[in-house]
Amino acid sequence: MDKFVIRGGNPLVGTIRVSGAKNSALPCMAAAILTADEVTLENIPQVHDIETQRRLFASMGAAVEMHEGERQDRITIDCRALTDPVARYEIVKTMRASSLVLGPLVARFGRADVAVPGGCAIGGRPIDLHIKGLERMGAEITQEHGYLKARARRLKGAHLVFDKITVTGTEDLLMAAVLAEGETLMENCAREPEVADLAALLTAMGAKIEGAGTATIRVQGVSRLHGARYRINPDRIEAGTFLIAGAITGGDLIVANCKTEHLGAVISKLIEAGVRVEVLGPGTVRVRAAGRLRAADISTEEYPGFPTDMQAQYMALATQAEGVSLVTENIFENRFMHVQELVRMGANIKVDGSTATVRGPARLSAAAVMCSDLRASASLVLAALVAEGESVIDRVYHMDRGYESIEQKLSAVGAQIQRMGNVFAAREQADPVAV
Ligand code: UD1
Repeated sequence: MDKFVIRGGNPLVGTIRVSGAKNSALPCMAAAILTADEVTLENIPQVHDIETQRRLFASMGAAVEMHEGERQDRITIDCRALTDPVARYEIVKTMRASSLVLGPLVARFGRADVAVPGGCAIGGRPIDLHIKGLERMGAEITQEHGYLKARARRLKGAHLVFDKITVTGTEDLLMAAVLAEGETLMENCAREPEVADLAALLTAMGAKIEGAGTATIRVQGVSRLHGARYRINPDRIEAGTFLIAGAITGGDLIVANCKTEHLGAVISKLIEAGVRVEVLGPGTVRVRAAGRLRAADISTEEYPGFPTDMQAQYMALATQAEGVSLVTENIFENRFMHVQELVRMGANIKVDGSTATVRGPARLSAAAVMCSDLRASASLVLAALVAEGESVIDRVYHMDRGYESIEQKLSAVGAQIQRMGNVFAAREQADPVAV
């Protein structure tokens, strides 16, 4: 298992480029199921979740070509040979977003067997709203042997009102609606930019969609979609993580190739916390420390509120701010797994229900810590960048799920970060207490 060894204390200086959005790439790949033509996606990040999605497609018979060479960020998906619409447990259990294939499989093939995702580190994460929506569109769904079995002739347009705002739920049902017969009206939809990204691809494939990116989406179903070529948005969570990296290290960092209009809540909060943030253009932000960081509360919300996917990284920053910051998590239960590890590095954090009270500034000291999920791992890397001494961060496979070449990107702007693979494994084997 790979680890990062990070020596803290270096301010990050220079320019860091943001990759394509993992959370746009995954639904956009699923959208390729809706057509027998080729779909080419550009700006695909080289992260492990994309490889998992590729394996899922291959297991169903589809072809996914990752383009080698200069433009490694391009993939072409061809679902002509997709004959086995089954999302197997072995894959779904490692990536819950695999349930995104449910809607498109039912819409195109009239059947899908998708393993029921189990619990995960950040909470139960059910998919009941995906199921309810498909049932309203005429699918029959049963559960057997840990699999959802969905069957339908042609799905029918329906009036869907989400009980709760769900990102992948909105995306899954949007993909089902584009091939359904008649009109689908979806209300209380997620307004995340990734939903709008998916809708833009679907529109390029011939779908008729209005309102994506707002709470109400109206879809006129069509009988077939064609192939398309589409460039997905930059990753706003990776961009936000870099903004915090610049701020927490007291550096001077330019975050390039992002979409600043997607970063509103994060940028406002950083300014409130005393960080100097300058938007240099629609795709470039400069972040600099301007004296001491000040405590500022956050409360996670659906977009355009402060993203839950930035909560753990913000908490690392809050440990360095003067005063008391309240960090409230409203989207997922159990998304404070990073707290114990930050505390082991010297942070002063108390959790009470869904609120963490962070008292700062704390002098962080390097420690051996363990990643528990994707964003928690980013939080530990950020803390290690300012901790005194050399931290060893274990289970970085969580980080690899969603951050492309993170150690190369950070070391290019001055971080002392190294990936250790076999060296550590060998050392651990020889002496289990040495690492
Ligand atoms: C997506 C993102 C994830 C992000 C999350 C919230 C992807 C691949 N993942 O996850 O990075 O953290 O949005 O911004 O895009 N819920 C139900 N029933 C459902 C579906 C969801 O109760 O059928 C609940 C969840 O348990 C959670 C809340 O709704 O409490 C929001 O979850 P949701 O927006 O669905 O998260 P994901 O789409 O899984």
